[in-house]
Amino acid sequence: MYYIAGDCMSLWLRKSRIAITCAKGAPPFLKKELLFLGFPVLSTGVSEVETEGTLEDSMKLNLLIRTGHRILYLIDSLNAKNPDELYKRMPLIHWEDYIPEDSYFSVTSSVNNPAIRDSRFANLKCKDAIVDRMNDKFGKRPDSGPERDRIVVHLYWKNDKCQVFLDTSGEPLAKRGYRKIPLKAPMQETLAAAVVMATCWEGKGNFINPMSGSGTLAIEAAMIALNRAPGLLRSNFGFMHLKGFSQSSWRILRSRVKGGEKDKMNGRIIATDISQQAVEASKKNAMTAGVERFIEFGVCHYAETPVPSGGGVVIVNPEYGARMGEVEALKVVYKGIGDFFKKGCQGYNGYVFTGNLDLAKKVGLRTKKRLAFYNGPIECRLLEYDLYEGSLKK
Ligand SMILES: C[S@@+](CC[C@H](N)C(=O)[O-])C[C@H]1O[C@@H](n2cnc3c(N)ncnc32)[C@H](O)[C@@H]1O
Repeated sequence: MYYIAGDCMSLWLRKSRIAITCAKGAPPFLKKELLFLGFPVLSTGVSEVETEGTLEDSMKLNLLIRTGHRILYLIDSLNAKNPDELYKRMPLIHWEDYIPEDSYFSVTSSVNNPAIRDSRFANLKCKDAIVDRMNDKFGKRPDSGPERDRIVVHLYWKNDKCQVFLDTSGEPLAKRGYRKIPLKAPMQETLAAAVVMATCWEGKGNFINPMSGSGTLAIEAAMIALNRAPGLLRSNFGFMHLKGFSQSSWRILRSRVKGGEKDKMNGRIIATDISQQAVEASKKNAMTAGVERFIEFGVCHYAETPVPSGGGVVIVNPEYGARMGEVEALKVVYKGIGDFFKKGCQGYNGYVFTGNLDLAKKVGLRTKKRLAFYNGPIECRLLEYDLYEGSLKK
């Protein structure tokens, strides 16, 4: 679809490529989400999936996608060998159609170009070009800086090919807004959603999460089971600051999505941790997320976590141990998890999410499946165990 320059409404209905970034290991789950929502999958990368849609669609994606980090709407592709060429070509984009005169924007980038040593220089050139065009049009320069709470322009520049996106998320989607009290080593919300999806738990059977820390896995599981959109908690996204954003379309979309929520689930969600402070924090986080009445919290050693009959998923995310002394102590913990799975969780599917594969071996059970994920820069595995008799290694 073509649009008339200056017409913001038709601009919001223009179809383009949309790249959604995610944690490494998460693309299969992001792909599943997109297909479920009726979006096509154009390509899949190591940490992104590409689809297509309008800026209107990007509102929907920001509201509904659980495993994606940023929804990047492509506005143009250009050739630029070096920063000067970038500076010359960027003003050819009709920035004034997207950015209001008196607004604030920031530029982020992913650059792999021999002429650029520091991607901040590319950001600066891009910012200057936008500001100069806006100044020519309106005699006024929009503000810019590093904050990503308003308009965000993203540059993907590889050799001489440069793709220019609007980051319609602004702040990454992992910042759902419910984790007010983060503790040590929390899992990113978007990664936790992908991990829950990998267990195939959707509300049938129980979801047992010993060592729950700040409660991310249990909260994401509850939101999945209740069909609660992850973006409902956020009141600010990048797209809201673009020209032509319709507050009423957003309100209608939100209420339609809210109408599809469930108010009960079949299984029980139980989240426990040995730390009283962690359990208090996870209760508060669950309250902010609006799911506290669906999670049973408890302070206890992981092996004392209640495991009701009926089966389901039991999942632990123990510490990985950065220092040698810690690793020694954790060997006992990992072995204990294996014993707990074997003796206390029969009939369940057991999962260990860890960044330390040597420690994982101490669990001592035969793995049914191993999935690789990255928790930030740390390569991790989600290990699945069938907890039936005979699953213990001989
Ligand atoms: C890596 S953190 C879990 C992070 C969690 N997935 C999150 O997103 O916040 C590991 C948790 O295990 C808890 N823990 C350590 N030893 C434990 C034990 N013996 N029994 C129960 N919990 C334990 C710690 O208090 C910590 O909260």
